[in-house]
Amino acid sequence: MTTSVPLAPGLAVVVGAGGGLGAALLARLQQQGHYARVLGLGRAGEIRIDYADEASIAAAAQAVARRCAESGQALRLLLVATGFLHGAQGQPERGWRHLDAAYLQQVFLVNSLGPALLIKHFFPLLPRQGRCVAGFVSAKVGSIGDNALGGWYGYRASKAALNQLVKTAAIELTRSNRDGICVALHPGTVDTPLSQPFAKTGLTVRPPQEAARDLLAVLADLAPADSGALVDYRGQTLPF
Ligand SMILES: NC(=O)c1ccc[n+]([C@@H]2O[C@H](COP(=O)([O-])OP(=O)(O)OC[C@H]3O[C@@H](n4cnc5c(N)ncnc54)[C@H](OP(=O)(O)O)[C@@H]3O)[C@@H](O)[C@H]2O)c1
Repeated sequence: MTTSVPLAPGLAVVVGAGGGLGAALLARLQQQGHYARVLGLGRAGEIRIDYADEASIAAAAQAVARRCAESGQALRLLLVATGFLHGAQGQPERGWRHLDAAYLQQVFLVNSLGPALLIKHFFPLLPRQGRCVAGFVSAKVGSIGDNALGGWYGYRASKAALNQLVKTAAIELTRSNRDGICVALHPGTVDTPLSQPFAKTGLTVRPPQEAARDLLAVLADLAPADSGALVDYRGQTLPF
């Protein structure tokens, strides 16, 4: 990490802006006013993105490209705060007997496939010169090196896949913009619908506003040499 570098003006996009962490990231970016314009994308709202529909991702990228052209601003920050752990498609597995194809499809769709398609459609919009940052909210439990407890097969594996996608995209991004930064982020345990059923006593659960503040401070301090890493909300690099 280096000393704090002010982010270049431009356009910032938060994908997953309707989620607990995504909404807090969007609100903080709007309060900070570092960017000329901040757009929130999600399954609801003006610019709609649903990972189950690649056409919606392509159309959202085109809409963002139009906003960039109209305002003369480059896309300088892409923050992806989508994620899936539990829902109608199932719950995280406590053991191998719970492995279920429908749950695995959903967890990989939202945590790996969707972000991969965001890379495909949004990375071509990133400028070829000057600082630009893409941050994908991942999770420490996606770290293979850090897995001491087992369980949560699908969530762990889908976040490990996301980390590999981020690392691979970081390498390609550097070829088109040597100041480009692409990282995976661990936000800590945050009080959102995703963590709510699993927030055990004794675990430090932080408000989304606090996590958003910390993640944006970490992103502002990143240098191109940090690209490709999995970084936590304190700015520490975690093992893959
Ligand atoms: N909360 C924690 O303790 C914690 C810990 C570690 C990592 N994380 C990670 O932090 C990120 C943010 O999660 P959160 O805690 O804010 O959870 P959340 O409140 O449940 O938000 C999840 C977000 O994912 C979006 N999403 C779900 N399915 C989607 C789909 N098919 N297409 C497009 N978007 C979809 C949701 O969109 P809608 O608003 O349209 O539903 C929502 O914006 C996730 O990557 C999560 O894995 C969270």
